[in-house]
Amino acid sequence: MQIHETIASLRAARSKSGRVALVPTMGNLHAGHIALMTVARGHADQVIATIFVNRLQFRPGEDFDSYPRTFAADCEKLAAAGVEHLFAPDEAQMYPQPQSYHVEPPPEQAGILDGEFRPGHFRGVATVVMKLFLIAQPDVALFGRKDYQQLMVIRNMVREFNLPIEIIGGETVRAEDGLALSSRNGYLTTGERAEAPRLYRVITDLANEVRNGAKNYSALESKAMNKLSLNGWTPDYVALRKKLDLQLPSAHDSGLVVLAAARLGSTRLIDNLEV
Ligand code: PAJ
Repeated sequence: MQIHETIASLRAARSKSGRVALVPTMGNLHAGHIALMTVARGHADQVIATIFVNRLQFRPGEDFDSYPRTFAADCEKLAAAGVEHLFAPDEAQMYPQPQSYHVEPPPEQAGILDGEFRPGHFRGVATVVMKLFLIAQPDVALFGRKDYQQLMVIRNMVREFNLPIEIIGGETVRAEDGLALSSRNGYLTTGERAEAPRLYRVITDLANEVRNGAKNYSALESKAMNKLSLNGWTPDYVALRKKLDLQLPSAHDSGLVVLAAARLGSTRLIDNLEV
């Protein structure tokens, strides 16, 4: 695997023929990331992974400084997954001067759910992903459904800017007890780690009730949030939304997804499940 720290080096190495897949990450790679690399492999002749902890998508007081950085172990995993190129720029490479142009997703997509609790987050994500797209010029790019709203924002950005990039969503990879793999799981204490799978259980129960015909959506959401609160969580939201645009469903809408975000101790976890 070739490691590129500069845009020039990546551009020179990027294949000029065949299909190129891009898999952006912030590192501290786990089986969820590696699954995306494997899917990418099936769609392209050359796979480019990126590792860049993007300051723009963190708010002051969030975990930018403490975000786990495990570069050597990440490289081993990527090489073992058959990735050809790793783009791992530093901040001076990505933001040689403070970024003054941004991709601003509309508030009805980026101001709801996670965007309500992390204002500016999706602007930071959209801006860095646009830069990575323009740097690597992939034919296809892979994102996890674990970050459901992020995937929606990126799909819409690609469509509205006419970017010639196919976006593929990868299934959420979970631990055996159901907890969605996340770099942030490493922040959990042993006790919190044992409690953490409740988030998936709670959204699974809610999804099952809807599958069984329940229509009292806001009561179901409140019940789910209460279950979390009673077990020591601080929920930001548990929300039943339309899959396509994450807007509120009415009783006759089908194609729904349950999304949740909650803090356990100092760790904020998110998860979702299509109904
Ligand atoms: P990061 O959290 O490192 O995630 C990188 C990619 O892996 C994202 O597309 C994410 O949805 C996916 N992913 C994370 N956990 C997963 C799991 N358990 N199963 C499947 N896929 C999973 O998301 C980001 O980085 C950043 O916002 C980024 C897009 C790189 C922009 O900075």
